[in-house]
Amino acid sequence: MSLLRLEEVHTFIEQFHILEGVSIDVPEGDIVALLGRNGAGKTTTLKTILGLTPARSGSVFYDGNNITGRRSFDIAAMGIGFVPEHRAIFSDLSVEENLLIAERERGDFAAKEDFIFGLFPDLKRLIRLPGTNLSGGQQQMLAVARALVPNNRLLLIDEPSEGLAPVLIEQMMEAIRRLSSESTVLLVEQNFIVASRLAQHFVIIEEGRSIMSGAMKDLVDDDETIKRYLGAGTGGAT
Ligand SMILES: Nc1ncnc2c1ncn2[C@@H]1O[C@H](COP(=O)(O)OP(=O)(O)OP(=O)(O)O)[C@@H](O)[C@H]1O
Ligand SMILES: [Mg+2]
Repeated sequence: MSLLRLEEVHTFIEQFHILEGVSIDVPEGDIVALLGRNGAGKTTTLKTILGLTPARSGSVFYDGNNITGRRSFDIAAMGIGFVPEHRAIFSDLSVEENLLIAERERGDFAAKEDFIFGLFPDLKRLIRLPGTNLSGGQQQMLAVARALVPNNRLLLIDEPSEGLAPVLIEQMMEAIRRLSSESTVLLVEQNFIVASRLAQHFVIIEEGRSIMSGAMKDLVDDDETIKRYLGAGTGGAT
């Protein structure tokens, strides 16, 4: 059964009709890649799931419940974590403080500490440093780590490899692969190589519509589709 399901979702931002029919199925335990060009509507899709830009029509189901129209706070509390674009961390706070304020319940961080530092050993070394002192890659790791602090059954991760050097992309991929043993993942990823190596399934969004979905193993051989809807960009990973 799908852990997350979007049915014909339409979303407006002010008067602009941004999502014009997005349908997505995310099976429990999988990594599903949400693909599409710049401005296609990938981030808006994640924000619509979270109720930050609520759907005007269509439905979002999570764990069998219709969550369309619920408040973001309540949606997150159901076990949906969000890693926004552009390394959204608190730069004035230390690594440890960033992780502690990500708690949903007291003791979340202590319970997850070993798992998180196992994925991102650098963060343990940097625990007392403020966010501003971290490199871009370390900030991105902290942004992902924050979403792992509460018990999240589903993670929405927006462009985790963006702007990272190839060696850090490899580390990030390994971390996502390992965290996916604990959480289902909907992954927005512009780097097709990264997406294709991580995800079992894909959905392509084009101009606010989901136009194609299926098994990633079928997409990797489909050069025409990759070129047509995703551009030739394969990013930094190999
Ligand atoms: N606050 C806003 N007001 C008006 N239009 C917006 C707003 N936010 C996003 N849009 C438009 O909605 C469309 C989808 O944006 P979105 O950020 O979801 O795309 P995306 O696929 O995540 O792109 P990218 O790959 O650049 O991150 C774009 O055309 C964008 O210009
Ligand atoms: Mg985006």
